[in-house]
Formats: sequence, C-alpha cells, structure tokens
Amino acid sequence: MLMPRPKAVHVLVLIFIFLFCVASLRNRNSSFHESSEIPKENCTRSGWLKDSTAPETQDFGSEFVISFADIQKNYTWLYLPEIEEASQEKDILMIVASRTDSYARRNIMRQTWMNKSDSEIVANGRMKPLFLVGLTPGDYKMKKMVMQEAKLYGDIIVVDMNDTYEELTYKSLAILLYGVSKAPRYQMIGKIDEDVIFFPDKLTALYEQGIIDATPLCAYGYKIQAGARIFRDKNDRWYVPESSYSCSKFPEYVSGMLYMVTWEAAQQIIKSTKYRDFIQVEDVFLTGILAEDLGISVRNLPKFYKYPNDIDESKSVDIIAWHNDQKDIQYLNFFKKGLARYQNEKAGIAAMTTTSAQN
Ligand SMILES: *[C@@H]1O[C@H](CO)[C@@H](O)[C@H](O)[C@H]1NC(C)=O
Ligand SMILES: *[C@@H]1O[C@H](CO)[C@@H](O)[C@H](O)[C@H]1NC(C)=O
Ligand SMILES: *[C@@H]1O[C@H](CO)[C@@H](O)[C@H](O)[C@H]1NC(C)=O
Ligand SMILES: *[C@@H]1O[C@H](CO)[C@@H](O)[C@H](O)[C@H]1NC(C)=O
Ligand SMILES: *[C@@H]1O[C@H](CO)[C@@H](O)[C@H](O)[C@H]1NC(C)=O
Repeated sequence: MLMPRPKAVHVLVLIFIFLFCVASLRNRNSSFHESSEIPKENCTRSGWLKDSTAPETQDFGSEFVISFADIQKNYTWLYLPEIEEASQEKDILMIVASRTDSYARRNIMRQTWMNKSDSEIVANGRMKPLFLVGLTPGDYKMKKMVMQEAKLYGDIIVVDMNDTYEELTYKSLAILLYGVSKAPRYQMIGKIDEDVIFFPDKLTALYEQGIIDATPLCAYGYKIQAGARIFRDKNDRWYVPESSYSCSKFPEYVSGMLYMVTWEAAQQIIKSTKYRDFIQVEDVFLTGILAEDLGISVRNLPKFYKYPNDIDESKSVDIIAWHNDQKDIQYLNFFKKGLARYQNEKAGIAAMTTTSAQN
C-alpha cells in the first residue's frame, strides 16, 4: 500500500510541526540578534560635502548670497527696517515668514502679538518682531504696494525672492542671515509662520523656569522625534533626494511653525549650508539635519500646538503657539480672548501674592 498507516501519518505530521517550530524560533532569534547587532545608523554628516568649493552663505551689505554645495542664489535686501543699535543684549528677534500678498494678515499681527499694547515682551524691548517678505522680480504693482507698506510701518525686511514653497528654505536662511548679520545683539533668532497664533509674553515664564537657557547651541520649538519617514518621490512637497541625505529616517527637528535658534546656532547654520546640497524641507533641513551635523541641541517647548484640531476652542487651553487655519477676524478674536484670560490669571496671582505678603 502506498498509504502509510494512520499512526505513522500522525507521527510524521507531529515531527514536521516540531521541526517547523524550532526552525521558526531559530529564525526569530537570529533575526532578533541580527537587528540588535546592526549598529545604529549614524546620520551625522551623511551627505556632508567637506570638499565643497561653493562660497559661504553671506551678507554683503545690500546684497547677499545663499549658497549650497549644488546651488547658489544672489539676492538683494530691497528694504531694511531700522533696528535700534541695542546697547545691551536683547532676547529675541522674531521674524514672520510672510507671503507677499498677506496684507490683511500682517495688519492682524500688528494688532495682536506684535503690538506693544498687547505684548509686554515687545513693549519692554526684549522681543523685536519683524516680517520678511519676498518680492517676485518683475511684479511692479506688488512691489509698489509692499514697499509702501514697509516704509509706513518700518517692520518688513523685503527681499527679491520668489514666494513659492521651494523658496522656503531660502526664506528661512534669509531670516537667520539677517539676524546674524544685521542684529548681532539678539541672543535668539526666531522664525514664525503667519498662520500661528502666538502669545509671546508666555515665553517669559519659560526663561524664568530655565526651560529656555543660555546654552549657546540650541534650537527651541515644537519638537518632532527622530524617525519620521523621508519622502523619496520627486513630486512630493517634502521630497529629499537620497544623494542629499541618505539616512532612512529624519533626525529630530523642530516644526517650522515657530522655532527659535540661538544667535550662535544661526551663525553655524549659515556657515555650513555650503557643505550640503539643497533640501527643500526647510524645518527638517535647518533644525534637524544641519543641527545634528553641528551638534545643536533640539529642545521642545511646552504649550505649542501643531494642528488646528489640537485645540478645542470651547475650552480654555493654555497656549503659547498654535498653528491653525483661522481667518483674520477669528485670529484676532481668539488672540484677544486668550490674552484677556492670561492677563486676568496674572492679575489674580499678583493679587494673591500681595495678600499673602501682607498677612
Ligand atoms: C532564543 O534566545 C533565547 C534568549 O536569547 C534562548 O534562551 C533560547 O534558547 C533561544 N532559542 C532558540 C531556539 O535558539
Ligand atoms: C558619526 O559620523 C560622524 C561623521 O563621520 C563622526 O564625526 C561621529 O563621531 C560619528 N558618530 C558616532 C556615534 O559614531
Ligand atoms: C552672485 O554674485 C557674485 C558677486 O557679485 C558673483 O560672483 C556670482 O557669480 C553671483 N552668483 C550667481 C549664482 O549669480
Ligand atoms: C496697536 O494697538 C493699538 C491699540 O489697540 C492700536 O491703536 C494701533 O493701531 C496698533 N498698531 C498697529 C500698527 O496696528
Ligand atoms: C523666480 O521665478 C522666476 C520665474 O519663475 C524665475 O525665472 C527666477 O529664476 C526665480 N528666481 C529665483 C531667485 O529662484
């Protein structure tokens, strides 16, 4: 008979299952061992071109060059606001990366967190707020409007830069370069997007609590942990070519919604762009990849919210910065309401301490 007896079949099947289990356990063990033996990917200076002959990113006074190993672009400062020659060090130069035609939004910001009457930190000079606006060469009507606005308010840095997503890295570098070169008395240079509601007075407490300190090489903001996926598709907004950065995951970085880097860190970033090819994901590039190359530590700030849905407007959430999609009037109202609440709380605390001091 070709068929073995039933008992033998059972034995064979059992032996087969046993062997299979042992084999898979072994595999599990060996793959476990292999993965723990693979050294952690060292992404520091992955793609760093130490022999780059590109010029350094630098300011020539009325013109400047932003330079990567593979691309250099020359720009002109079309309008430079006057900033007081501070006799003593100031805390923060906060620059809004503003779209050329965001006239209304700029006015909302001038009426809210940038305004001396609503921001103590601005009133007492610890923070200087400015805008940076790019003007597409050749658009004369827009140029006239923006230049008039810049002269009227004296708070816009105007550069001849295209207002496109691809130029964001250049825009942020222009912000850092302006700080490094034109405002050396500021300890910190901040970049903020115009769709972020910001309560700058609440940063004072972070200084007092030592969350923001005098570490010279530091970047602060909403920290994203290392390990985010890298987009390798050319058509993606967040595309990073393998040749510019070959690591499999992003390093930690701070979100572009609002970050602050120390003057020293900004200077290091500016000096080092020539050693890397251009990457269009500005926050990851400047506060992640270059920060890691340069040993700049990346720190998280509390009460930062990255998504519109992070905040339930019916609740009184304590916010320092919230990236959202509110319209101008909503933005204004949200700020004024939040500010009133914050000032009430502060007044309450002050009253309580006075009472307890009297007792
Ligand atoms: C798997 O690894 C564990 C711990 O390292 C060990 O105790 C076990 O005997 C291994 N099993 C096999 C099938 O190698
Ligand atoms: C990673 O690579 C960089 C540049 O090659 C080197 O300076 C650094 O020491 C390396 N770090 C580790 C942890 O091996
Ligand atoms: C930028 O300007 C410098 C100095 O004027 C010049 O040597 C260089 O060729 C220019 N680069 C580009 C990309 O236009
Ligand atoms: C700042 O706020 C004051 C008081 O609300 C207002 O009168 C002024 O117009 C604001 N400044 C700007 C530039 O909007
Ligand atoms: C800006 O855009 C125009 C038109 O698309 C292009 O010709 C020009 O080279 C761009 N300028 C920069 C600095 O990228």
